[in-house]
Amino acid sequence: MEIIIAPDSRLNQVSKKVEIFDNTVISILNQMLECMYNNKGIGLAAPQVGILKRLVVVDCSDKNNIKKPIKLINPEIIKSSSEISEFEEGCLSLPTQYAKVKRPAEITVKFQNIEGIYCEESFSGIEATCIQHEVDHLDGKLFVDHVSKLKKNIILKKLIKFKKKNKK
Ligand code: NI
Repeated sequence: MEIIIAPDSRLNQVSKKVEIFDNTVISILNQMLECMYNNKGIGLAAPQVGILKRLVVVDCSDKNNIKKPIKLINPEIIKSSSEISEFEEGCLSLPTQYAKVKRPAEITVKFQNIEGIYCEESFSGIEATCIQHEVDHLDGKLFVDHVSKLKKNIILKKLIKFKKKNKK
């Protein structure tokens, strides 16, 4: 799997709901986790690797601790706290770029597991931020869409340069 770097129109599309829960889905999720760990990320959404399906993986566990992978199929944020928290966000699709983003501090997510069974779970702290960031990807949104237009443009320009430099 290769991570798509912004700006790229594939990152601005709305991903499709997963309807069939077969081995392909399990395999994609496992490959996404591997890709995320290899790139030292804490979250990855399928559109970032060119798959326009509503699939997300997250692992916000401390590096020294045991892995805590979370796999979310068709995640939907059904509740958000009025309390806001701010984190410096980064993204594997926006390498070397960071910005402070404000989001609800606590969320409840409805999603399906690999068997297609509906689940509901609440998240807070960095996990809540990370999941909101990944769900944004499924709707074609990046963290730079939460900052000022000026800042967004500066970051995207830097990424265009970054991509040119890293092209063979
Ligand atoms: Ni991201």
